[in-house]
Amino acid sequence: MCGIIGYVGYEDAVPIILDGLKKLEYRGYDSAGIAVMDDQGFSVVKQKGRLTALEELVRKSPIAGYMGIGHTRWATHGEPSDINSHPHLGSKNKIAIVHNGIIENFKQIKERLEQKGTVFVSQTDSEVIAQLAEHYYNGDIIDTVIRVTNALEGSYALGIMCIDEPGKLIAVKKDNPLIVGISDKGNFIASDVPAVLAHTNKVYYMNDKEIAVLTKDGVSFFNTDNEPIEKTPETITWSIDSAEKGGYEHFMLKEIMEQPRVLKDTINSALRSGENKNLLDSLDITRFNRIVITACGSAYNAGMVAKYVFERLCRISVDVELASEFRYKDPIIDENTLVILVSQSGETADTIAAMREAKSRGAYTLSIVNVIGSTIAKESDATLYTLAGPEIAVATTKAFSAQLVLLYILAVRFAHKLKRITDDQQEELLSEIAALPDKSYELFEHVDFIQKYASNCVGYKSIFFIGRNIDYAISMEGSLKLKEISYIHSEAYAGGELKHGTISLIEEGTLVVAISCSEKLYGKIYSNVEQVISRGARVLFIGNCIQAIPDDRLSIIEIPKVNELFSPSLSVIVLQLFSYYVAANKGLDIDKPRNLAKSVTVE
Ligand code: F6R
Repeated sequence: MCGIIGYVGYEDAVPIILDGLKKLEYRGYDSAGIAVMDDQGFSVVKQKGRLTALEELVRKSPIAGYMGIGHTRWATHGEPSDINSHPHLGSKNKIAIVHNGIIENFKQIKERLEQKGTVFVSQTDSEVIAQLAEHYYNGDIIDTVIRVTNALEGSYALGIMCIDEPGKLIAVKKDNPLIVGISDKGNFIASDVPAVLAHTNKVYYMNDKEIAVLTKDGVSFFNTDNEPIEKTPETITWSIDSAEKGGYEHFMLKEIMEQPRVLKDTINSALRSGENKNLLDSLDITRFNRIVITACGSAYNAGMVAKYVFERLCRISVDVELASEFRYKDPIIDENTLVILVSQSGETADTIAAMREAKSRGAYTLSIVNVIGSTIAKESDATLYTLAGPEIAVATTKAFSAQLVLLYILAVRFAHKLKRITDDQQEELLSEIAALPDKSYELFEHVDFIQKYASNCVGYKSIFFIGRNIDYAISMEGSLKLKEISYIHSEAYAGGELKHGTISLIEEGTLVVAISCSEKLYGKIYSNVEQVISRGARVLFIGNCIQAIPDDRLSIIEIPKVNELFSPSLSVIVLQLFSYYVAANKGLDIDKPRNLAKSVTVE
């Protein structure tokens, strides 16, 4: 997601901020900017594109100041552009802010301020913070920040400067990270430790709704009643490299751990307010008689899961097609077909080609994409955005999970529009989806067990994954994850298919990972488990309805109870952790597996 750095002190803020932004580059961004303050007021330089271009601009038209804020932006509301880049200033040029997060009620605030005459210049949710702060400003910046944060719904980490209170850099956060670094040459705010590590290893971790006031000589903290609070700094002992990964050994593990937050952001964007919600409200499903989901790799697996959810809830037949196949098969689609394209990057060549094929045949194309402004987002008829933030590990985890929840919500909303479910049923299903972030968090209790179990799996040449119905669909993702990062051959099978061939491969010591989140099908999958155990297999059984007879060869991971249609969001996190720890125990380059690229832009 976006990166924030701020400085107030005895040195020129510009090089410190530019250097800090470079240290935040790993978070991914599409534009960058800086605002500094000196005795004359604010100087702002910001633009779409790489940091090198920002540095070049600053070199050509130098700016300087003793205090400043900088930002790398990953677009969520409003396309990547110069005007949408941060910092944002209020119309009176009195308050400048940088923001990381999502303001869910920005439309309401914007409308209110527009009625009072405020003129907005960007399409971002963030600009409302600067405008609202100017609107409330009464000579006391802390008081103003309290009022602003009371009005905001959503998540934020903010760096704020006010022209009338020179020398004060203000920071506040809710549900997004922010640290305060202290040193003899001045004080810092940042999204993450690497941005300040060159200057200090003494940092305060801010808690939600705490307000930090930094001056060149010190930092004070306040609560939302404007009362001072005491905090103790921590000493960072990480290297820059591990600091970028939030202290985790690999980006993949960091991204797995980010999933409760990503699920929450994506679900809120679809259910509470924002462009995703607007699109879901306005889409007319009743005109389609067929749904085709097309994608590649993990995104295809998300489609396989979605097929079960759509068909069960909407009673419309759904075909899931590999995008690389779809374009060559003379697909049977027309203007009554809804074609859903799923892609993290929005740049996968095969998925782009499938989209163009579908459009040329008159189908309506709806994309589910993570990268704003990507080709698929631009060319499809409509786009729902996963709010996963930049995904750095090649193997997708958090973007996949965000795709799943958007697909569930789409299915529930469509089922309701088609009158296949009642208002109450829709309400109940959506609240089960809204409960997923908290339930996913509970899964991290199993990390130690999974790590230990995985350490005994490094010697396998082949591992099988089985499930039935939707559990089979998610076992395909478990299998893909394992093979791509651990280089162990693996296959996913529908449990009932074992006896039609694969069971001949089961022998003493083979590992089978079985998934069971459907009470109705538990007996069936358990009988598959018994069959493979009796042929000498070890089984790792993952589910929420397991009642197995204890066996030395059987290990069980219980996951929280949830409607089986949404259970893949929980089982997949266990599968991701399992793959990660197998690969970690093999000492592999997990974030960059051999022969793979993050975005496959060639056929
Ligand atoms: C697997 C993985 C790939 C991608 C596939 C599609 O972990 O990341 O299988 O899912 O290459 O990429 P996108 O989603 O960018 O279209």
